[in-house]
Amino acid sequence: MERGEGGNEQPRSGVEGAVRGAAVVFGVTSRVGRELALRFAERGHPVWVGARDQAEAERIAKDIAVRTRVVAISGGFDARAVETHAALVSSIEAAVGPIERMVIAFGDMGDDGRRDPQMLRRIVEVNYLGAASLAELVADQMAARGRGIIAALGSVAGDRGRQSNYAYGSAKGALALYLQGLRNRVFSKGVHVMTAKLGFIDTRMTWGLATKIPIASPEAASHAVLEAMEARRDDLYWPPFWRGVMGVIKAIPEAGFKRLSL
Ligand SMILES: NC(=O)c1ccc[n+]([C@@H]2O[C@H](COP(=O)([O-])OP(=O)(O)OC[C@H]3O[C@@H](n4cnc5c(N)ncnc54)[C@H](OP(=O)(O)O)[C@@H]3O)[C@@H](O)[C@H]2O)c1
Repeated sequence: MERGEGGNEQPRSGVEGAVRGAAVVFGVTSRVGRELALRFAERGHPVWVGARDQAEAERIAKDIAVRTRVVAISGGFDARAVETHAALVSSIEAAVGPIERMVIAFGDMGDDGRRDPQMLRRIVEVNYLGAASLAELVADQMAARGRGIIAALGSVAGDRGRQSNYAYGSAKGALALYLQGLRNRVFSKGVHVMTAKLGFIDTRMTWGLATKIPIASPEAASHAVLEAMEARRDDLYWPPFWRGVMGVIKAIPEAGFKRLSL
Protein backbone atom coordinates (compact mmCIF):
# COMPACT_ATOMS: atom_id res chain seq x y z
CA MET A 1 0.00 0.00 0.00
CA GLU A 2 1.50 3.31 -1.02
CA ARG A 3 0.79 6.92 -0.47
CA GLY A 4 0.02 9.44 -3.20
CA GLU A 5 1.82 12.69 -2.48
CA GLY A 6 0.30 16.06 -3.25
CA GLY A 7 3.43 17.95 -4.35
CA ASN A 8 5.57 19.63 -1.67
CA GLU A 9 2.65 20.57 0.48
CA GLN A 10 1.40 18.28 3.19
CA PRO A 11 -1.81 16.63 1.96
CA ARG A 12 -4.80 17.60 4.06
CA SER A 13 -7.29 15.12 5.43
CA GLY A 14 -10.35 17.32 5.63
CA VAL A 15 -11.91 20.61 4.52
CA GLU A 16 -11.52 23.74 6.67
CA GLY A 17 -12.69 22.95 10.18
CA ALA A 18 -14.33 19.65 9.23
CA VAL A 19 -12.94 16.23 9.97
CA ARG A 20 -14.24 13.67 7.55
CA GLY A 21 -13.78 9.94 7.69
CA ALA A 22 -12.23 7.96 4.89
CA ALA A 23 -13.91 7.25 1.58
CA VAL A 24 -13.02 4.00 -0.14
CA VAL A 25 -13.53 3.12 -3.78
CA PHE A 26 -13.08 -0.50 -4.81
CA GLY A 27 -12.57 -0.66 -8.58
CA VAL A 28 -11.00 2.72 -9.23
CA THR A 29 -9.88 1.87 -12.77
CA SER A 30 -13.57 2.19 -13.66
CA ARG A 31 -14.07 5.74 -14.90
CA VAL A 32 -17.14 6.07 -12.70
CA GLY A 33 -15.12 4.83 -9.73
CA ARG A 34 -12.29 7.22 -10.46
CA GLU A 35 -14.64 10.20 -10.74
CA LEU A 36 -16.30 9.22 -7.47
CA ALA A 37 -12.95 9.01 -5.69
CA LEU A 38 -12.12 12.51 -6.91
CA ARG A 39 -15.54 13.79 -5.77
CA PHE A 40 -14.95 12.37 -2.26
CA ALA A 41 -11.52 13.97 -2.08
CA GLU A 42 -12.95 17.30 -3.25
CA ARG A 43 -15.33 17.08 -0.29
CA GLY A 44 -12.40 16.57 2.07
CA HIS A 45 -12.57 12.82 2.66
CA PRO A 46 -9.18 11.12 2.78
CA VAL A 47 -9.49 8.43 0.14
CA TRP A 48 -8.32 4.86 -0.40
CA VAL A 49 -8.58 3.65 -3.95
CA GLY A 50 -8.18 0.03 -4.97
CA ALA A 51 -7.83 -1.93 -8.18
CA ARG A 52 -6.41 -5.19 -9.47
CA ASP A 53 -3.72 -3.11 -11.16
CA GLN A 54 -1.98 -1.62 -8.15
CA ALA A 55 0.34 0.57 -10.24
CA GLU A 56 -2.64 2.17 -11.98
CA ALA A 57 -4.40 2.66 -8.63
CA GLU A 58 -1.26 4.42 -7.40
CA ARG A 59 -1.22 6.74 -10.42
CA ILE A 60 -4.86 7.60 -9.78
CA ALA A 61 -4.21 8.23 -6.07
CA LYS A 62 -1.33 10.58 -6.93
CA ASP A 63 -3.49 12.46 -9.41
CA ILE A 64 -6.24 12.87 -6.79
CA ALA A 65 -3.75 14.03 -4.15
CA VAL A 66 -2.22 16.60 -6.53
CA ARG A 67 -5.63 17.94 -7.56
CA THR A 68 -7.19 18.12 -4.10
CA ARG A 69 -4.32 18.11 -1.56
CA VAL A 70 -6.25 15.41 0.26
CA VAL A 71 -4.60 12.23 1.52
CA ALA A 72 -5.02 9.58 -1.19
CA ILE A 73 -3.75 6.06 -0.65
CA SER A 74 -3.88 3.18 -3.07
CA GLY A 75 -3.84 -0.58 -2.87
CA GLY A 76 -4.41 -3.74 -4.80
CA PHE A 77 -7.29 -6.15 -4.37
CA ASP A 78 -9.17 -8.81 -6.25
CA ALA A 79 -12.93 -8.94 -5.83
CA ARG A 80 -12.89 -12.71 -6.30
CA ALA A 81 -10.34 -13.35 -3.53
CA VAL A 82 -12.91 -13.20 -0.74
CA GLU A 83 -10.59 -14.94 1.72
CA THR A 84 -8.35 -11.83 1.61
CA HIS A 85 -11.12 -9.29 2.16
CA ALA A 86 -11.18 -9.15 5.97
CA ALA A 87 -7.43 -8.44 6.14
CA LEU A 88 -7.81 -5.96 3.30
CA VAL A 89 -10.47 -3.94 5.12
CA SER A 90 -8.35 -3.92 8.30
CA SER A 91 -5.31 -2.74 6.38
CA ILE A 92 -7.31 0.02 4.67
CA GLU A 93 -8.56 1.34 8.01
CA ALA A 94 -5.05 1.15 9.44
CA ALA A 95 -3.79 3.22 6.52
CA VAL A 96 -6.51 5.80 5.98
CA GLY A 97 -8.67 5.69 9.12
CA PRO A 98 -12.26 4.63 9.81
CA ILE A 99 -14.25 4.16 6.60
CA GLU A 100 -17.19 6.57 6.38
CA ARG A 101 -18.05 6.20 2.69
CA MET A 102 -17.60 3.15 0.50
CA VAL A 103 -18.34 2.56 -3.15
CA ILE A 104 -18.20 -0.75 -4.96
CA ALA A 105 -17.40 0.31 -8.50
CA PHE A 106 -16.07 -2.95 -9.89
CA GLY A 107 -18.09 -5.18 -12.14
CA ASP A 108 -17.67 -7.67 -14.94
CA MET A 109 -20.11 -8.14 -17.79
CA GLY A 110 -18.33 -11.27 -18.99
CA ASP A 111 -17.76 -12.13 -22.62
CA ASP A 112 -20.63 -11.74 -25.04
CA GLY A 113 -22.76 -14.82 -25.22
CA ARG A 114 -20.45 -17.04 -23.16
CA ARG A 115 -22.33 -18.79 -20.41
CA ASP A 116 -20.00 -21.70 -19.78
CA PRO A 117 -19.28 -22.62 -16.14
CA GLN A 118 -15.99 -20.68 -15.92
CA MET A 119 -17.57 -17.52 -17.27
CA LEU A 120 -20.58 -17.89 -14.99
CA ARG A 121 -18.27 -18.31 -12.02
CA ARG A 122 -16.32 -15.18 -12.95
CA ILE A 123 -19.49 -13.11 -13.40
CA VAL A 124 -21.03 -14.29 -10.14
CA GLU A 125 -17.80 -14.02 -8.15
CA VAL A 126 -17.03 -10.47 -9.26
CA ASN A 127 -20.49 -8.88 -9.42
CA TYR A 128 -22.15 -10.71 -6.55
CA LEU A 129 -19.82 -12.60 -4.22
CA GLY A 130 -16.95 -10.09 -4.17
CA ALA A 131 -19.26 -7.12 -3.82
CA ALA A 132 -21.37 -8.72 -1.08
CA SER A 133 -18.25 -9.81 0.80
CA LEU A 134 -16.72 -6.32 0.90
CA ALA A 135 -20.04 -4.61 1.64
CA GLU A 136 -20.70 -6.96 4.57
CA LEU A 137 -17.25 -6.45 6.11
CA VAL A 138 -17.29 -2.67 5.77
CA ALA A 139 -20.91 -2.47 6.99
CA ASP A 140 -19.86 -4.26 10.18
CA GLN A 141 -17.08 -1.73 10.78
CA MET A 142 -19.47 1.15 10.16
CA ALA A 143 -22.20 -0.37 12.33
CA ALA A 144 -19.77 -0.67 15.25
CA ARG A 145 -19.18 3.10 14.97
CA GLY A 146 -22.82 3.93 14.29
CA ARG A 147 -22.33 5.69 10.96
CA GLY A 148 -21.39 5.27 7.33
CA ILE A 149 -22.76 5.09 3.82
CA ILE A 150 -22.20 2.27 1.34
CA ALA A 151 -23.08 2.33 -2.34
CA ALA A 152 -22.68 -0.29 -5.04
CA LEU A 153 -22.85 0.28 -8.76
CA GLY A 154 -25.51 -2.13 -9.87
CA SER A 155 -27.28 -2.26 -13.19
CA VAL A 156 -30.73 -1.95 -14.70
CA ALA A 157 -29.84 -5.36 -16.17
CA GLY A 158 -30.53 -6.74 -12.67
CA ASP A 159 -34.18 -5.73 -12.77
CA ARG A 160 -35.39 -8.41 -15.19
CA GLY A 161 -33.79 -11.41 -16.87
CA ARG A 162 -33.41 -10.88 -20.61
CA GLN A 163 -31.81 -13.18 -23.18
CA SER A 164 -29.16 -10.59 -24.08
CA ASN A 165 -27.46 -10.37 -20.67
CA TYR A 166 -29.06 -12.57 -18.03
CA ALA A 167 -25.81 -14.00 -16.65
CA TYR A 168 -24.52 -10.54 -15.73
CA GLY A 169 -28.06 -9.32 -14.97
CA SER A 170 -28.76 -12.12 -12.52
CA ALA A 171 -25.55 -11.41 -10.60
CA LYS A 172 -26.42 -7.70 -10.39
CA GLY A 173 -29.99 -8.60 -9.41
CA ALA A 174 -28.71 -10.88 -6.66
CA LEU A 175 -26.45 -8.08 -5.45
CA ALA A 176 -29.40 -5.67 -5.30
CA LEU A 177 -31.34 -8.19 -3.21
CA TYR A 178 -28.35 -8.75 -0.95
CA LEU A 179 -27.92 -5.02 -0.43
CA GLN A 180 -31.61 -4.72 0.36
CA GLY A 181 -31.15 -7.20 3.21
CA LEU A 182 -27.96 -5.54 4.39
CA ARG A 183 -29.71 -2.15 4.31
CA ASN A 184 -32.46 -3.59 6.49
CA ARG A 185 -29.92 -5.11 8.93
CA VAL A 186 -27.74 -2.04 9.44
CA PHE A 187 -30.32 0.75 9.14
CA SER A 188 -30.99 0.76 12.89
CA LYS A 189 -27.22 0.96 13.48
CA GLY A 190 -26.85 4.24 11.63
CA VAL A 191 -25.47 2.79 8.40
CA HIS A 192 -27.01 3.45 5.02
CA VAL A 193 -26.79 1.19 1.97
CA MET A 194 -27.65 2.33 -1.54
CA THR A 195 -27.94 0.47 -4.84
CA ALA A 196 -27.18 2.58 -7.90
CA LYS A 197 -28.88 1.05 -10.92
CA LEU A 198 -26.97 2.36 -13.89
CA GLY A 199 -28.09 2.40 -17.48
CA PHE A 200 -25.56 2.98 -20.26
CA ILE A 201 -22.51 4.95 -19.13
CA ASP A 202 -19.66 5.88 -21.44
CA THR A 203 -16.89 3.59 -20.14
CA ARG A 204 -14.77 0.63 -21.27
CA MET A 205 -17.79 -1.59 -20.62
CA THR A 206 -19.86 0.11 -23.33
CA TRP A 207 -17.01 0.78 -25.75
CA GLY A 208 -18.23 0.27 -29.32
CA LEU A 209 -21.85 -0.14 -28.24
CA ALA A 210 -24.28 0.88 -30.98
CA THR A 211 -27.48 2.09 -29.36
CA LYS A 212 -30.04 4.83 -29.85
CA ILE A 213 -30.50 5.01 -26.08
CA PRO A 214 -28.61 7.99 -24.57
CA ILE A 215 -25.27 7.10 -22.97
CA ALA A 216 -24.43 9.12 -19.85
CA SER A 217 -21.00 10.44 -18.91
CA PRO A 218 -19.04 8.98 -15.98
CA GLU A 219 -18.74 12.52 -14.56
CA ALA A 220 -22.52 13.01 -14.44
CA ALA A 221 -22.97 9.51 -13.02
CA SER A 222 -20.46 10.21 -10.25
CA HIS A 223 -22.25 13.41 -9.23
CA ALA A 224 -25.61 11.61 -9.23
CA VAL A 225 -24.29 8.70 -7.15
CA LEU A 226 -22.63 10.99 -4.62
CA GLU A 227 -25.70 13.18 -4.22
CA ALA A 228 -27.95 10.15 -3.81
CA MET A 229 -25.59 8.66 -1.21
CA GLU A 230 -25.53 11.87 0.81
CA ALA A 231 -29.33 12.09 0.55
CA ARG A 232 -29.43 8.49 1.86
CA ARG A 233 -31.50 7.28 -1.05
CA ASP A 234 -32.17 3.54 -1.06
CA ASP A 235 -31.73 3.28 -4.79
CA LEU A 236 -30.84 5.43 -7.74
CA TYR A 237 -31.58 4.95 -11.41
CA TRP A 238 -29.09 6.81 -13.59
CA PRO A 239 -29.88 8.32 -16.01
CA PRO A 240 -33.26 8.81 -14.28
CA PHE A 241 -35.40 7.81 -17.28
CA TRP A 242 -34.33 4.20 -16.65
CA ARG A 243 -36.65 4.03 -13.63
CA GLY A 244 -39.63 4.47 -15.96
CA VAL A 245 -38.20 2.17 -18.63
CA MET A 246 -37.55 -0.61 -16.15
CA GLY A 247 -40.93 0.00 -14.51
CA VAL A 248 -42.56 -0.80 -17.85
CA ILE A 249 -40.25 -3.76 -18.55
CA LYS A 250 -40.92 -5.25 -15.12
CA ALA A 251 -44.68 -4.84 -15.56
CA ILE A 252 -44.88 -6.92 -18.75
CA PRO A 253 -46.44 -10.31 -17.89
CA GLU A 254 -43.98 -13.19 -18.26
CA ALA A 255 -46.26 -15.00 -20.71
CA GLY A 256 -45.71 -12.20 -23.19
CA PHE A 257 -42.21 -11.21 -22.08
CA LYS A 258 -40.69 -14.60 -22.94
CA ARG A 259 -41.74 -14.10 -26.58
CA LEU A 260 -39.87 -10.80 -26.88
CA SER A 261 -36.34 -10.50 -28.20
CA LEU A 262 -34.71 -8.26 -25.63
N1 LIG B 1 -20.90 1.28 -18.26
C1 LIG B 1 -22.17 0.94 -18.16
O1 LIG B 1 -22.97 1.21 -19.07
C2 LIG B 1 -22.67 0.27 -16.91
C3 LIG B 1 -24.04 0.00 -16.84
C4 LIG B 1 -24.55 -0.59 -15.70
C5 LIG B 1 -23.71 -0.89 -14.64
N2 LIG B 1 -22.37 -0.63 -14.75
C6 LIG B 1 -21.54 -0.98 -13.59
O2 LIG B 1 -20.75 0.14 -13.26
C7 LIG B 1 -19.55 -0.31 -12.63
C8 LIG B 1 -18.36 0.36 -13.29
O3 LIG B 1 -18.19 -0.19 -14.59
P1 LIG B 1 -17.60 0.63 -15.82
O4 LIG B 1 -18.72 0.93 -16.71
O5 LIG B 1 -16.77 1.74 -15.33
O6 LIG B 1 -16.75 -0.48 -16.56
P2 LIG B 1 -15.20 -0.86 -16.49
O7 LIG B 1 -14.36 0.26 -16.94
O8 LIG B 1 -15.11 -2.15 -17.22
O9 LIG B 1 -14.94 -1.05 -14.96
C9 LIG B 1 -15.07 -2.29 -14.33
C10 LIG B 1 -14.17 -2.27 -13.14
O10 LIG B 1 -14.26 -3.53 -12.48
C11 LIG B 1 -12.95 -3.95 -12.16
N3 LIG B 1 -12.87 -5.39 -11.96
C12 LIG B 1 -13.26 -6.37 -12.81
N4 LIG B 1 -12.98 -7.57 -12.26
C13 LIG B 1 -12.41 -7.34 -11.05
C14 LIG B 1 -11.90 -8.15 -10.03
N5 LIG B 1 -11.91 -9.50 -10.11
N6 LIG B 1 -11.39 -7.56 -8.92
C15 LIG B 1 -11.35 -6.23 -8.81
N7 LIG B 1 -11.81 -5.38 -9.75
C16 LIG B 1 -12.33 -5.95 -10.86
C17 LIG B 1 -12.12 -3.48 -13.34
O11 LIG B 1 -10.77 -3.51 -12.99
P3 LIG B 1 -9.58 -3.80 -14.08
O12 LIG B 1 -9.14 -2.44 -14.51
O13 LIG B 1 -8.55 -4.52 -13.28
O14 LIG B 1 -10.18 -4.63 -15.17
C18 LIG B 1 -12.70 -2.07 -13.48
O15 LIG B 1 -12.15 -1.19 -12.53
C19 LIG B 1 -19.55 -1.83 -12.74
O16 LIG B 1 -20.04 -2.40 -11.56
C20 LIG B 1 -20.54 -2.08 -13.85
O17 LIG B 1 -21.11 -3.37 -13.75
C21 LIG B 1 -21.84 -0.05 -15.85
